[in-house]
Amino acid sequence: MKIIGKYPESRLRRNRKSDWARRLVAENNLTANDLILPIFITEGNNKIQSIKTMPGIFRYSVDKISYVVEKASKLNIPLIAVFPNTPEKFKNKNGSEALNENNLVCRAIRKIKRNNFKIGVMADVALDPYTSHGHDGILKKKEILNDETIEILSKQAVLQADMGCDVIAPSDMMDGRVGVIRKALDNKNYKNVQILSYSAKYASNFYGPFRNAIGSNKKLKGDKKTYQMDFKNSNEALREVALDIKEGADFVMVKPALPYLDVIKSIKENFKIPVFGYQVSGEYSMIINAIKKGIIDKNSITESLMSIKRAGTSAIVTYFALEVAKNLKK
Ligand code: PBG
Repeated sequence: MKIIGKYPESRLRRNRKSDWARRLVAENNLTANDLILPIFITEGNNKIQSIKTMPGIFRYSVDKISYVVEKASKLNIPLIAVFPNTPEKFKNKNGSEALNENNLVCRAIRKIKRNNFKIGVMADVALDPYTSHGHDGILKKKEILNDETIEILSKQAVLQADMGCDVIAPSDMMDGRVGVIRKALDNKNYKNVQILSYSAKYASNFYGPFRNAIGSNKKLKGDKKTYQMDFKNSNEALREVALDIKEGADFVMVKPALPYLDVIKSIKENFKIPVFGYQVSGEYSMIINAIKKGIIDKNSITESLMSIKRAGTSAIVTYFALEVAKNLKK
């Protein structure tokens, strides 16, 4: 960029002199349309449970879920994402509960779709909420099997589409799963079911509170480094995205968001497709706990989301979605 102008003719502070002047030149704005609300679901009836590691976030039993979905819908949030807290007794080595049409996610999707809210429903495709070892795929000896896993994932995707799921989100990081899932959906004439691929999902240290929320924390044997990305890499994320687009992804996700703004930006610049960012549980917890302790101001929430937008995202999965949407309405 060529630098034009010099002091004293040029004074950049002139455009910052008042609130209206700043609003006039704002390069980015946050609206409810930018927000995707994650919702945790739990077994039982009449339950709204708080989560120790994520202050302000709750798990809802299926009968209570409409209450929070309606709230999101009224606030114009375009999409919600459901995550199950599967009871231990339903978990096993191969995660077979993923294919049970009466599992938590399936019941939740059916319940939400029955209400005809003007809101999209997204569900992850991965085995980790259902495996006794906490991995996203089938574990054999010490290996997470790729091709055997994606066979199950394609069935899980079709089942979720059967339930009325609008956006299928493979979050497992197996190779080739987007193509296999796209084909399976198209074979059942689900041409309009979208695929949001977690294309660049890092083996991150920021997932801790989430794993606690879905009860996979103590379970996890080892780590996920043989399938989730190494946080030393960014070029590799571009290859992941290129393959997923070729295989039929409608949009791609970068996860976590805040420590990976460079990755978001470079995907957007290189592919010009909708990119989403996932502000994960660890990011949420750091910010909310610092606010609670009075260490940082509440406006840090908007600042963090704005930085993710500025990097080039079309929308952000964030546990702050309801609160931010409410404040935007005021
Ligand atoms: C796994 C999955 C993870 C999250 C959502 N789905 C991470 C993991 O356990 O590997 C994390 C979300 C968060 O931390 O907010 N399929």
